Amino acid sequence: MLVSARSFEEYRAMFALTDRDLEQRVLDCPGGAASFVAEAGRRGIDAVAVDRQYAHHREELGLLVERETVFKRELLVRETAGHPWSWYTDVDDMIRQWTANARDFRADITARPERYVAGSLPELPFADDSFDLVLSSHLIFSYGNRLDEEFHRAALLDLARVARREVRLFPLMVYDTGARYPGLERLREELAGLGIPSRVERVRYEFQPGDNEMLVLSCADHRAPARAVRGAAAEDRVRWRHREAVPAGS
Ligand SMILES: C[S@@+](CC[C@H](N)C(=O)[O-])C[C@H]1O[C@@H](n2cnc3c(N)ncnc32)[C@H](O)[C@@H]1O
Repeated sequence: MLVSARSFEEYRAMFALTDRDLEQRVLDCPGGAASFVAEAGRRGIDAVAVDRQYAHHREELGLLVERETVFKRELLVRETAGHPWSWYTDVDDMIRQWTANARDFRADITARPERYVAGSLPELPFADDSFDLVLSSHLIFSYGNRLDEEFHRAALLDLARVARREVRLFPLMVYDTGARYPGLERLREELAGLGIPSRVERVRYEFQPGDNEMLVLSCADHRAPARAVRGAAAEDRVRWRHREAVPAGS
């Protein structure tokens, strides 16, 4: 699986993020070497990234991604043949943008390590309702040819568990098939039965042709079953602003 490095502006487009959305506490899962959290920090947005790679590669992940992306150029040319290039002009532009984003990621993870948490779906190291808005790009549904439906079910439930308001996921197509993830409607029905309604929304971002929809899970009325959060990584790494806002004694 390629670790990618999309930008804040790509996240804004993929998830139709408004300024109002970004006043909330946000989780990027999986963050990879994306520069979303770095740019969010410069704008005063309270954002955290989690990725399983942060357990093994932290500061050097950005550098690994830069080198790997260039190394895999020929493969990327083959894999992206026929892509609409609505965001990049061509593969070389994509590599240039990802390289710049990965450098930004590297500087930020070094300067603000507490914003990058090592953790794996479907068991994230956060307490229930730790974030208002959870964003998930290019893992769930996207790798539906490698990750089975049980993983998808468990991952969606865990993302909903840590989200106080919403989870937004992009894309809905399995990478390189041109088709939506086959279990999507079945999973949506199951989630609805558990008090997590969802909707599909068109967005102004497209990576594969026709792949321009996100899934939004509404978590406000869902109360996840209590779960013990495991190990040292379980501690909340940042202070929860929305909890601090609750008046003492309430
Ligand atoms: C294609 S990258 C997407 C990164 C970023 N969201 C972006 O769009 O640039 C996929 C990421 O998923 C991470 N990943 C894969 N399986 C995971 C899991 N079970 N839990 C957490 N992260 C995982 C990988 O380490 C990789 O960084």
